[in-house]
Amino acid sequence: MITRKELIRTGVSAAGVMLAGEVAGFGKILLRSAAEESCRGSIGLSGRAARILSGASLAPSGHNTQPWDVKIISENEWVIGWDKSRALPAVDPHNRELMLSIGAFCGALKISAKNEGLDARMAVTAKNPFSADLVKITFRESESSDYYMEALRKRRTVKKGLLSQPINNADISYITSGTGTKICTFNRGSREGDFIEAAVLESNKIQAARGDAQAELAEWIRWSRKDVMKHMNGLSPAGMEIGGFGGWYVSHFFDREDVMSLSFREQTVDMVENFLSSYGTWIIITSDREDCKSLIDAGEGFLKLGINSWRKKIALHPMTQPLEEAGFSGNLKKNIGIEENIQFILRAGYVEEYPLPVSVRMPVERIIR
Ligand SMILES: Cc1cc2nc3c(=O)[nH]c(=O)nc-3n(C[C@H](O)[C@H](O)[C@H](O)COP(=O)(O)O)c2cc1C
Repeated sequence: MITRKELIRTGVSAAGVMLAGEVAGFGKILLRSAAEESCRGSIGLSGRAARILSGASLAPSGHNTQPWDVKIISENEWVIGWDKSRALPAVDPHNRELMLSIGAFCGALKISAKNEGLDARMAVTAKNPFSADLVKITFRESESSDYYMEALRKRRTVKKGLLSQPINNADISYITSGTGTKICTFNRGSREGDFIEAAVLESNKIQAARGDAQAELAEWIRWSRKDVMKHMNGLSPAGMEIGGFGGWYVSHFFDREDVMSLSFREQTVDMVENFLSSYGTWIIITSDREDCKSLIDAGEGFLKLGINSWRKKIALHPMTQPLEEAGFSGNLKKNIGIEENIQFILRAGYVEEYPLPVSVRMPVERIIR
């Protein structure tokens, strides 16, 4: 149990895991902050609580907004909520993806708590995706296990370098085991695979032409190193996998206005076309219902899938636009023979080398409510 003494004794100033990564144009810098090293500060969290939160914050989220916040009711009772300023109303008006991100955060928090010798029990309390309080957590002392911790630290979204070989059935079984997710897979070049590909491309074109979606994206891109370090969230050139000279150039010369330009929108579509030229398999995560618990469970399943995939050098790239643009989801379901609700569309493929994570996370103090 986290003791009261521990809780009050120290504070925390930073979260995350120290990982060195190459940011385009920035050279080698330290990208994820270090909870273990810097559990000091002014918010009155114990080192153990801070470490749990820093591990939890490694969860993936749409545009890396990290929409979660946490209310510490007592040492063994926390409540997870969300921060309106980190929602994405233009592409996610119903908070569906925000719930998925919260689910991923819950999954990461369980792993991180287990690493600290605690079982985190979760109860979804949200009445709807806009409820202030979403999940209640209670902790119970248990045996510690670091089994998933390394993979949690090393998983990331990977968009480039996916091989065109389909993911084999044994690996599909491996990566889905214990995730609790319902998935369907379609290999590249199958009739269904082609249909998904076309829907992803078309929906990206529509979204790139949509002013409000593009303006929202512009708000969440951190072009310069200064901006990355200031916000510690959002999409960096490295996170978008704009590397080499291009990465250096955009980090020095691009700003919000560039994202709104026609040429940037055209380049976005070109980049998507390029992504679609190499991958092995589409993995579709579904849920039979669309309520908060189902979405949170699907988000947790997605995180676990990512963790298991890291062990098999399988890259996962969510391509969410068909679920964000009107008319695509129903058509997709009909044409690929899925009756349930589609929650994630993942472009998947083996990679020769699984790259280090590059997307930053906010310090723990910024997620305490
Ligand atoms: C609900 C959800 C939707 C996402 N949609 C997309 C997407 O459409 N395109 C994309 O490139 N990445 C997508 N991502 C990946 C995030 O951008 C990524 O998780 C975030 O930038 C943090 O980076 P990391 O996963 O490498 O830690 C999505 C992630 C989540 C959880």
